[in-house]
Amino acid sequence: MIYLVLKNFICILVLHSDHLCKPHRMQNVGEQGHMALLGHSLAAYISVLDRERLRKLTTRILSDTTLWLCRLFRYENGSAYFHEDDRDGLVKVCRLVINARYEEYASEGYAVLSSKQPVIYQSASGRPGLGQHLCSQLGLPLSSLCTVPCNTVFGSQHQMDVALLDKLIKEDKEAGKLPLLLIANAGTPGAGHTDKLGRLKDLCDQYSMWLHLEGVNLATLALGQATSAIMAANRSDSMTLTPGQWLGLPAVSAVTLYRHEDPALSLAAGLTSSQPVAKLRALPLWLSLQYLGHNGIVQKIKHATVLVEDELSSPVVLFKFSQEMSAASSGGSVEGYCAGEKEVLDTFNRWLGEQLLQLVPASGMDVVELEDEGTCVRFSPLLTAAVLGTQQGDVEDLVEKLSELVPVMSSTMCLRQDFREETHRHSPSLIYVEELSWPGLGAVRYEPQAEGIDESRRKQELEKINTELLKKLQELDTDIIFSTGPEFGTQENCIFVGMVTEDVDVSELVNTIATLGRDIEESGRLLENMTEVVRKGILEAELQLQKANEEKLMEEGVMRQLPLVGSVLNWFSPVQSSIKGRTFNLAAGTVLSAVGNFYKNNQILTLETRLNNQLSLSQLPSVCSGDKNYTY
Ligand SMILES: *[C@@H]1O[C@H](CO)[C@@H](O)[C@H](O)[C@H]1NC(C)=O
Ligand SMILES: *[C@@H]1O[C@H](CO)[C@@H](O)[C@H](O)[C@H]1NC(C)=O
Ligand SMILES: *[C@@H]1O[C@H](CO)[C@@H](O)[C@H](O)[C@H]1NC(C)=O
Repeated sequence: MIYLVLKNFICILVLHSDHLCKPHRMQNVGEQGHMALLGHSLAAYISVLDRERLRKLTTRILSDTTLWLCRLFRYENGSAYFHEDDRDGLVKVCRLVINARYEEYASEGYAVLSSKQPVIYQSASGRPGLGQHLCSQLGLPLSSLCTVPCNTVFGSQHQMDVALLDKLIKEDKEAGKLPLLLIANAGTPGAGHTDKLGRLKDLCDQYSMWLHLEGVNLATLALGQATSAIMAANRSDSMTLTPGQWLGLPAVSAVTLYRHEDPALSLAAGLTSSQPVAKLRALPLWLSLQYLGHNGIVQKIKHATVLVEDELSSPVVLFKFSQEMSAASSGGSVEGYCAGEKEVLDTFNRWLGEQLLQLVPASGMDVVELEDEGTCVRFSPLLTAAVLGTQQGDVEDLVEKLSELVPVMSSTMCLRQDFREETHRHSPSLIYVEELSWPGLGAVRYEPQAEGIDESRRKQELEKINTELLKKLQELDTDIIFSTGPEFGTQENCIFVGMVTEDVDVSELVNTIATLGRDIEESGRLLENMTEVVRKGILEAELQLQKANEEKLMEEGVMRQLPLVGSVLNWFSPVQSSIKGRTFNLAAGTVLSAVGNFYKNNQILTLETRLNNQLSLSQLPSVCSGDKNYTY
């Protein structure tokens, strides 16, 4: 029965991912994934067992999983709290520390905090919004947050400045505040840097502060040869792990390991629960751990770190396309021209990341925005490899694709300036459009040179010509991609030119665009002349027809116009018409008198409509018009 439930569950997941157009994200549910899913179904099933059995079973599952995790991540004597939101562990830990440091907190609540304001320290390279979330969950003012800058003089630019932190804590203490907790990184969310954990722990001990850790590098604690920088992590007071992500287990919750002696305070903080169902949150992970085994888990983490071939420093690879690269590939001859703005480089790097992910979906490449470095492309297999099933071959693919894309980016970067200048040469009919968020050669707009027409007409014209021009350019036999630009761009009616290889003749390209634009503009004017002739002709024809009608009605001396408005039922007379038809000579642009059937047809249609509508029209009251009654 459970298996059936499980099967349905997987089907739903797969369906969902199809709808989201990202099927590869779910590609590797795999056996251990099924285990995790089975855990969810089992948890639902177990939760209806009788109370005593349920209590025993859930206690066992929780303690087994906790023991296993503590052994795996070298965290002696730890307790575990399982949670869905990966920030929730920190919230509960923080509540625990408040309970422990403010004796009256349980009875007096926030009032005790005002006597001595608590301070929470976080790294400037930490997860954005984490501190704010913490404050909002705990009802603390934002002034309780202290963001510690990162080193800029010595060492990494992403590690917390320990000396400065020391100074900040001292100042806060002197101001009568209570330094409560420090959140440090074992793998910053952007670049995967690890703080100096050992030194931070010593500092925290000195001020009786709680040290909480998070970050992807904590996964490497499971490896036999974890680095000493990471090894110090197991001295922390708590750390949040995301084994579901690291091992590719769908819907497995995050877990926070912590060490604290007082079970009453843990209960008060919400880290432990007497509810058996809360303990069942460990079940999917329990099953997966059973299935993978200790070695299986270590193997999976090792696989991810080997993919970056750099497991000693950081299991995250960051790179970006930069100016130097573009100058080098062009032999330095166009120096200065290549000095693309930082924004353009960011745009190009964003494009690079997207291309790589598209070309090698199993790589799980993504794009990160770093304050100092700008936009970078990130390969972080610990976060993605288990889910996507990344293999060594994918990494090789990645390198190959990268070596194809970089030359194209370089040549485009260098030719951007040429493109701009060539465009100016065709001014005013061709306008260069500055769009820094466009990853390509650039954008232009063809401006029709019509004088004396009003603004709205001009806009219409502009849109028409550029749409037509884009179509013509797309029909050309070339590898260059022409488009309407970024999906949410601000520039309208532009032709965006994509990446180009170095053998493209930019002058010729711009020439082609200008020539095609001019052709379209001129033929458009011809067409417009025609349209004008036709429009005038129709007006004249209408006038003549109306005049003929009036004459006819006058002749017959009756006015039998139906009260139903609308062209079809605009019936003049049931008597065979003697109004002359008219034909319109498009080429000559004149109206000729003729005994045509133009008008007759109209009348036949009217009669037919009357027949067809007999039923519904019969409800209408009879119409009295002139000297006759017409009933429908
Ligand atoms: C941290 O891990 C090391 C290596 O396994 C171990 O010797 C040490 O006891 C651990 N420390 C704590 C506090 O768990
Ligand atoms: C774990 O508990 C044992 C026994 O209570 C104790 O001797 C040991 O020091 C503890 N280890 C840590 C890291 O707290
Ligand atoms: C449009 O028509 C006018 C006269 O009706 C003529 O003088 C003019 O040259 C025409 N324009 C084009 C583009 O054919």
